[in-house]
Amino acid sequence: MSSAYILGIESSCDETAASVVRSGEELISNVVASQIATHQPYGGVVPELASREHLRAIVPVIRQALAEAGKTYESIDAIAVTQGPGLAGALLVGISYAKALAFALDKPLIAVNHLEGHIHAVLLEERQKGNHELQFPVLALVVSGGHTHLYLAKLHPESWSYENIGHTRDDAAGEAFDKVAKLLGLGYPGGPVIDRLSTHGDPKAVKFATPQLKHPDRNTSKLNAHMDSSADAPGGLALAAAPPRFDFSYSGIKTAVLRHVETHKLKDLIESRRKVLAQIAKPKLEDYLANTDKQTLDLVASFQRSIVSDLVAKTLAAAREHDVATLFVTGGVAANNELRQTFEREAAADGLPVYFPSRPLSTDNAAMIAAAAYPKFVAKDFVAMEFSAEAGMALK
Ligand code: KG4
Ligand code: ZN
Repeated sequence: MSSAYILGIESSCDETAASVVRSGEELISNVVASQIATHQPYGGVVPELASREHLRAIVPVIRQALAEAGKTYESIDAIAVTQGPGLAGALLVGISYAKALAFALDKPLIAVNHLEGHIHAVLLEERQKGNHELQFPVLALVVSGGHTHLYLAKLHPESWSYENIGHTRDDAAGEAFDKVAKLLGLGYPGGPVIDRLSTHGDPKAVKFATPQLKHPDRNTSKLNAHMDSSADAPGGLALAAAPPRFDFSYSGIKTAVLRHVETHKLKDLIESRRKVLAQIAKPKLEDYLANTDKQTLDLVASFQRSIVSDLVAKTLAAAREHDVATLFVTGGVAANNELRQTFEREAAADGLPVYFPSRPLSTDNAAMIAAAAYPKFVAKDFVAMEFSAEAGMALK
């Protein structure tokens, strides 16, 4: 098959992004307009502001992605857009524009799940490096501000399928980084700041209890109830055993950090740090260090160590249970240095190859959407103009 140039569009959260990717294996252009400055004063993404910013950015971002790729609208083979999960209003901006382009240009339109995109960011870059030797099945940890999911990803002749074997019961890992950073007066988004500050603290200074998940997950128990009632057993008795789950929980650690702040009387220090950092347009590492006491550096390092250990331990336990050949770690939190190093060390001890996207492709981008769309393009898996955003879209 000749090359297919796909224009990807992503607007599920606080990044307006467009990209041109050739045949799922060559990134030609990748433009990301970040809204961090808009949401920073609020310490998190404000959905209404996100939609407004997407409306402002979408046309220039797409034009830039085409210009950088040396492509015209007419020379694109298909348009791919994120359908969900994400903020409904934000998703709709990308979807409406993608529909208008597809209609006006008479090009096929492809809907992509954002989480599938994160997984295909790894595949795109490995193919681009010439690595066509990946072994399947793959276990993918998608870990970001909105998600902490474990998927078994399987490659079929014309398509991919995904089985969710774990997810967070409450906060996503990136959400915990963001909330803890906010709590400690370190600004937004929290992940990159905590990542850099952690190397200056003692990760063993504060002990956090590992979350114990005693109660069955509500979604899983619903599934099990369904399996029980449909089990083909005499008298309708349940035969189907529940598959093991590898779920996460990160809201407890955030409360533990808050308790630590209260018992160690860190509130005044936090308030003065918040004020000083708010005066600096783009604080550098030296600015953070100059305003962060040793106790807080230790707290931050211990918090990160606890999250990283939990993510790595559960992912490797799931990998052993399902006997996978390869590990992918992707999504915004996959940019974290300690997470990468720990995964590399521990997966190597298990003889398991682990792959991450480069940092620009770890966080939200449209190259991953254009890459995930390629197998659908080959299979002519196109969507009709009636399709719409699906804020809570599951990956299957
Ligand atoms: O994938 P992404 O851009 O958006 C979502 O789909 O959520 O991920 C953003 C998240 C934020 O929570 C941010 O704090 C976190 O990824 N993040 C990091 C790092 N860089 C971004 N977390 C830990 N360490 C990092 N270096
Ligand atoms: Zn994402």
